[in-house]
Amino acid sequence: MKKVAIALTLLVSLVGAANATGNAEAGKAKAATCAACHGADGNAPVAMYPKLAGQHADYLVKQLKDFKSGARKDPIMMGMVMGLSDEDMADIAAHYQSLPVTEGSTPEDAVAIAKPLYQGGDSKRNMASCMSCHGPRGNGAGLAKFPKISSQNEAYVVAQLKKFRSGERANDPQKMMVDTAKSLTDAEIDALAKYLVGLH
Ligand code: HEC
Ligand code: HEC
Repeated sequence: MKKVAIALTLLVSLVGAANATGNAEAGKAKAATCAACHGADGNAPVAMYPKLAGQHADYLVKQLKDFKSGARKDPIMMGMVMGLSDEDMADIAAHYQSLPVTEGSTPEDAVAIAKPLYQGGDSKRNMASCMSCHGPRGNGAGLAKFPKISSQNEAYVVAQLKKFRSGERANDPQKMMVDTAKSLTDAEIDALAKYLVGLH
């Protein structure tokens, strides 16, 4: 009997963990304060702020938790998440995931530098291709918490790649991004960020 009870408790907590599905309608109201920087439709109008529209909910929840725990450091966002409960985070994430992301285009000169790295990595530098985790069109993978990176604001992507390169952002599991970004040059980071804008 006791074993059954333990098994049931485990099952319930597993189902609970896998089911991070929030209520998008409730999330819309809770996200009102976020619009100032991330845009009313989740497509941040200022390029230094990330677009949240169309992003995987599980990835968004992880980031909100990481800001709250301090695993990902940002003075603005750490203040914003202070008062959010787990349920608030799930609801807000469901709301943003449901919104369409606005798409852009890539200038030709960025393609020459970025495309080979994106699709093939660089074996000389032991650098995995971006595509192997973020997918051929940069859409990421929800369950693996690999973020969608295509259509993201260019200045935000540049800043994040530089933060991974320096280790200032190190909340990536198994150093997946820190290891990938550590030998990228500034020119490659600029080209990759431009490339992602039009990768859809
Ligand atoms: C005053 C501006 C501002 C406000 C208001 C704000 N944010 Fe942010 N947000 C930022 C900045 C800046 C970053 C990037 C931080 C960094 O460089 O790591 C960010 C990053 C994020 C990220 C990470 C996105 C990614 O792609 O990894 C999430 C999720 C997020 N914000 C959600 C929210 C939510 C939810 C709210 C409202 C409760 C909110 N933000 C309010 C400025 C803001
Ligand atoms: C081994 C898997 C892997 C590879 C290879 C990889 N990434 Fe990532 N990337 C991740 C994961 C996982 C995250 C999210 C980390 C976290 O939880 O904060 C991420 C995050 C990012 C982010 C931040 C997204 C955001 O919204 O803040 C950018 C930008 C990014 N990757 C670009 C790239 C580029 C460009 C390449 C190729 C040069 C690349 N990645 C290669 C796994 C990978």
